[in-house]
Amino acid sequence: MKDKLREIREEAMKRIEAARDLDALNEIKVGVLGKKGDLTQVLKSMKDVAPEDRPKVGQMVNDTRAAIEEKLESVRKEIANKLREEKMKNEVIDVTLPGTHKMIGHRHPNQIALEDLERVFVGMGYEIVEGPEVEYDHYNFELLNIPANHPAKDEQDTFYINKEILLRTQTSPVQARVMEDKVREAKETNSRMKPIRIIAPGRVFRSDEVDATHSPSFHQVEGLVVDKNITFADLKGTLQQFAEEFFGPETKIKLRPHHFPFTEPSAEVDVSCFKCGGKGCRMCKGSGWIEILGCGMVHPKVLTDCGIDPEEYSGFAFGIGLERVALLKYEIDDMRLLYENDVRFLNQF
Ligand code: DAH
Repeated sequence: MKDKLREIREEAMKRIEAARDLDALNEIKVGVLGKKGDLTQVLKSMKDVAPEDRPKVGQMVNDTRAAIEEKLESVRKEIANKLREEKMKNEVIDVTLPGTHKMIGHRHPNQIALEDLERVFVGMGYEIVEGPEVEYDHYNFELLNIPANHPAKDEQDTFYINKEILLRTQTSPVQARVMEDKVREAKETNSRMKPIRIIAPGRVFRSDEVDATHSPSFHQVEGLVVDKNITFADLKGTLQQFAEEFFGPETKIKLRPHHFPFTEPSAEVDVSCFKCGGKGCRMCKGSGWIEILGCGMVHPKVLTDCGIDPEEYSGFAFGIGLERVALLKYEIDDMRLLYENDVRFLNQF
């Protein structure tokens, strides 16, 4: 019995000494002190020991148990300490290291120009609306007084989806959609039509070859105002206000007669060159003026076809090329730069 106990103790001590982690220690604990452990087995055989020897043997078992438990605990502490030290070493933070630099994006020049434009028109009480990029021929041409075989249709090289559906070549179809909506709303509520004052920014498509001033996909901002007693003077005043706020307070505007099928009369609008102030420079090609948009009074036929009585209502419209004003404002000389997503370019804005 005595030998057996010594054997158990020596064996356990050796194994505890050799243990490398907490799992191994636990395994030893269960194997020696557990319910089916070696030492427990010895206790069970106490019944074979002569009664007068039992207290002595019992004492020996308890000593063995205490010694093993003590050893287990001291090695457990050692291992736990070592683990903690390792963890601390791995988690050391070197505060002198440079931080990880988070790259944040830039607003695209188109976006900056659009937000600026929206700021100006929202300030004048305009609402921002959107229309579909895939559009009916009916809205893109027909309702805008551009019937089949009209030469203006050929000028806008159109991407057709089928005979009736196309990629819009201009944001002007949003004009027709908004007018129809307002007329419908008035009918449904049995009230008179509410005045219209909207801008409609969006993407347009034309099957153009890419070069410094053309792209098959670009952006326009459409404007439309319809109410009683809207005159050409309102259009001029609005555009003058826009030019001053967008290009600078010294900016002048000049209207040149032009033709658009959906406006009558129509005009193209130039602003005085904001680079040279009108003296003539490379930017304005020496003329002192830069063309920025097309506009006019909404054609009576367009009003009528959208359900509005031209005897009662009148309106003006304008169309701004977003890329055009962005390029001008930031003095970028090639439209392709806006689409190439070269960060060396975009980082400058
Ligand atoms: N939609 C015309 C274009 O794409 C631009 C335009 C001109 C829009 C005159 C208008 C306008 O609303 O009144 O060339």
